[in-house]
Amino acid sequence: MKCHTWAFIRNPEKLINDGFHYFGSNQPFSIVVAGRRTIILRDVQDVATVWRNTQALSIDPFVVLTLGAFGIGKPTLEKIFTDPRDLIQGQARMKSVLINSNPNNKVYMDLEREWFTSQLLAPEALRTLQKKYLAYLNESLSWTALSPTYVLSRASSPETTTVVSLRKFCQYTVSYCSTNTFFGKKLQQIAPDFLQHYQEFEKGSWKIFYRLPSFLAVDSHRAKERAVDGLAKYLSMPDQDHSELEWIFQTIVSELGYLGVGDQDIAAFVMVIIWAINNNAHKVAFWILAHLLHNQPYLLAVCDEIDAAFLGRERGSEGEPSMDILLSACPHLDAIWYETMRVYNATSVIRQATWPCTVGGKRVHVGDQLIAPFRQFHLNRDIFGHDATAFRPERFLENRTLPRTKGYAPFGGGYTYCPGRLFAQREIYLFVAMTLRRFEMGLVPRERGPRMPQVDKETPSAAAMSPDEDVLVLLQQRKHV
Ligand code: HEM
Repeated sequence: MKCHTWAFIRNPEKLINDGFHYFGSNQPFSIVVAGRRTIILRDVQDVATVWRNTQALSIDPFVVLTLGAFGIGKPTLEKIFTDPRDLIQGQARMKSVLINSNPNNKVYMDLEREWFTSQLLAPEALRTLQKKYLAYLNESLSWTALSPTYVLSRASSPETTTVVSLRKFCQYTVSYCSTNTFFGKKLQQIAPDFLQHYQEFEKGSWKIFYRLPSFLAVDSHRAKERAVDGLAKYLSMPDQDHSELEWIFQTIVSELGYLGVGDQDIAAFVMVIIWAINNNAHKVAFWILAHLLHNQPYLLAVCDEIDAAFLGRERGSEGEPSMDILLSACPHLDAIWYETMRVYNATSVIRQATWPCTVGGKRVHVGDQLIAPFRQFHLNRDIFGHDATAFRPERFLENRTLPRTKGYAPFGGGYTYCPGRLFAQREIYLFVAMTLRRFEMGLVPRERGPRMPQVDKETPSAAAMSPDEDVLVLLQQRKHV
């Protein structure tokens, strides 16, 4: 059978649509990706079957491959899938959550999923994270704190217009604030270049994710190693220096230590999670702001909604929005968020068969991979109408049930349904709201008129997609703040 790996990495939708035209139906069909028989799903019902069948279809082999690609050693990969009672010995048994709060003796990776859910979805824990994030955002978006990382021409006073790279502004601000939320400022103090190395790594992280040969991803590997070294240095500090480290990471670090995982592998493991936290959010924020700047009437509608969320909450320049109003009374903001997540998200459902089963009438053998790229559903005319490929947030205003449509799954589903989905929505809403409240934003004029960036087809993506071009923005302080 022909190998389709590169065609799949470059443009999975095209490959799938070609397959669809070739086979002429919505039935699953198989191709070869990375040397493995890979069954492609095109029917939403088949995806639901995959999500339900947790006995026969597992994400674990894929997790092992991904962590391995990111440099985590085989002994560690075995430990996180082994009964913890066989590994944790001595004093550690008294302290370990894996031993003492694990009645079904789940393996590390399964219990870690529960920790994420309790930290990221429980209302009180989520509120605490949101509050910390907002405090960092407040500081980061003050006029005097704008960073040279994204400022292209410096403003000398509040009245002066500053030119910023929208792409870098979103990337730096969102990643800085969310990384500080989970790790505290101590990480930047101990490893001042961490964020810079992380962002260099992130640029080429798709090469590591898709396991391109090392010589094709030298810079990404080097940046990753430097970021991991910084993290390892931070994590090796005495416990009192980690007082701002969020509970989820304290637990991950301690429990991996009890399992006998070495410091460098623990740091690499934490780095992969930082990547899951950061890699998508700033790109989504970029697409939202870029579209708003290219659509003045829509921008005004969003600004009105956001201003209402600040009303009565002003405390001089420290004004903060009401999260409740942002989440429940900003329909235009909601609509552009949903539309961005629909159009710019290359998420896939991915599982491997650990037991024979049947999906959509097709026999699945042990070792087969099943993949359903979601953008094929998100851009499907049968689901989202004749203009499904166009960016038109109004569709979510016209039909308020659209986010619950089968086939709309920007955060995946099943037992790997993104546990960070509520935090992600809050961090992006807060970032957009604080930015538009603080600053007048306009496009730097271009000789041939404005151009809304398109998706960068040269850079494959496992989730939020990158733009083919930056947007240069004129930034000025808004008068009322
Ligand atoms: C707009 C931003 C985000 C998008 C589009 C996104 C998307 C996704 C998707 C599609 C998955 C499921 C992958 C699968 O089914 O295999 C996932 C998993 C995950 N996400 Fe997110 N995510 C975002 C933000 C976040 C944030 C902010 C966090 C943490 C604070 C986070 C933590 C995770 C974790 C830990 C998993 C793994 C879940 C598991 O394997 O059980 N994500 N994300």
